[in-house]
Amino acid sequence: MTTSRRRYHITTFGCQMNKADSERMAGILEDMGFEWSQDPNDANLVLYNTCTIRDNAEQKVYSYLGRQAKRKHEQADLTLVVAGCVAQQEGEALLRRVPELDLVMGPQHANRLQDLLEQVFDGNQVVATEPIQIVEDITKPRRDSTVTAWVNVIYGCNERCTYCVVPNVRGVEQSRTPEAIRKDMEELGQQGYKEITLLGQNIDAYGRDLPGVTESGRHLHTLTELLYYVHDVPGIERIRFATSHPRYFTERLIRACAELPKVCEHFHIPFQSGDNDILKAMARGYTQEKYRRIIDKIREYMPDASISADAIVGFPGETEAQFENTLKLVEDIGFDLLNTAAYSPRPGTPAALWENQLSEEVKSDRLQRLNHLVSTKAAQASQRYLGRIEEVLVEDQNLKDPTQVMGRTKGNRLTFFAGDINELKGQLVKVKITEIRAFSLTGRVLD
Ligand code: SAH
Ligand code: SF4
Ligand code: F3S
Repeated sequence: MTTSRRRYHITTFGCQMNKADSERMAGILEDMGFEWSQDPNDANLVLYNTCTIRDNAEQKVYSYLGRQAKRKHEQADLTLVVAGCVAQQEGEALLRRVPELDLVMGPQHANRLQDLLEQVFDGNQVVATEPIQIVEDITKPRRDSTVTAWVNVIYGCNERCTYCVVPNVRGVEQSRTPEAIRKDMEELGQQGYKEITLLGQNIDAYGRDLPGVTESGRHLHTLTELLYYVHDVPGIERIRFATSHPRYFTERLIRACAELPKVCEHFHIPFQSGDNDILKAMARGYTQEKYRRIIDKIREYMPDASISADAIVGFPGETEAQFENTLKLVEDIGFDLLNTAAYSPRPGTPAALWENQLSEEVKSDRLQRLNHLVSTKAAQASQRYLGRIEEVLVEDQNLKDPTQVMGRTKGNRLTFFAGDINELKGQLVKVKITEIRAFSLTGRVLD
């Protein structure tokens, strides 16, 4: 290479936490003088921010890595980084598998990227996977959007769902202070951002690790308190949060959402299974009856609230009748959106060692049946939008039709309508819904 320009590429796999981490790491790289390169083959630093939630997510990472490792043999100045959850799970073993790697770094180390890279540029191969107190970030993230932004409120997870790798790879819960969160939001408001999503794997756990309890032993810092504390940040028009856990979801939180106009009436509350024995085997800590009560309560306060969730089919030992309890729950609740997955045994999790694993055929058959029901129910749930006037926050052009823009309703429905993105980006627009599909809407602007 003759050029001294330093170019970086990041590919991000997995959930919103990883996307938020990638934006912070990109900010650090730009501070160090790197420029973004869309094409990994044109970059001299390639970073994969990885996910290991299911086996197929992990395998995808290895195939991407293989290609870059090969390239490194022709281009010696290529720096190869694996960050995120596969890095944390595999640690040193990743270096043995892909010796071309320069840096393997777990999610807790994302904000330390500059330090770690300096060690690499000194000639070291570095593995950073030890648990640490996450350092507050001083770099400005390079955000993908200029309209919506993520703000981490709690890192890690202290639950022990028997199928899940997240506690192993993301570590123990660490809440950020309300002050730090509000400061981030104020800056974003000043920069013109309109919508914030507060992030945590189990966001209802927010604050329980922060100092401060009342005389009755209740924590002063809860998600509910946090919403009241940040809801009036100037410039921010909408606030969302994810992911909620049915075990800790409270009526106080529902009341806060109903009371605070900027908090969107959209709830993402994974239920995982509609069967109590499976829920017990998953160690989820609630029953399907409790889950239904939560949804009833939400609809009592906010009849139009949109509800989404995650579910797993084919958990070890799941019988046909138990699977049908999941179908029944989906039938009764009628989710606006449901992320579904076939159970995937993960290293280091209890359920992976059980002998009552189901065959791939059974799992994929159940997944198909569930998905079919989900789209039928989502299409029904969409009906309520037809002819209605919805407030849409315009995020971008419709990639498939540049004469249209795309945005979301308060309930998080993707909505398209004719308009000029240069005029409308970041605007809240009143749109009359003229066409509905299971997971998206089309409309026209009202003058
Ligand atoms: N913290 C969130 C979810 C985190 S992981 C919660 O508690 O619900 C995102 C989703 O991936 C989970 O909701 C679950 O549906 C799915 N998932 C997690 N582990 C899985 C596994 N081993 N196999 C299949 N799906 C899994
Ligand atoms: Fe995983 Fe359960 Fe934690 Fe969610 S709450 S991240 S499913 S262990
Ligand atoms: Fe995947 Fe890690 Fe998120 S395993 S789902 S990227 S927390």
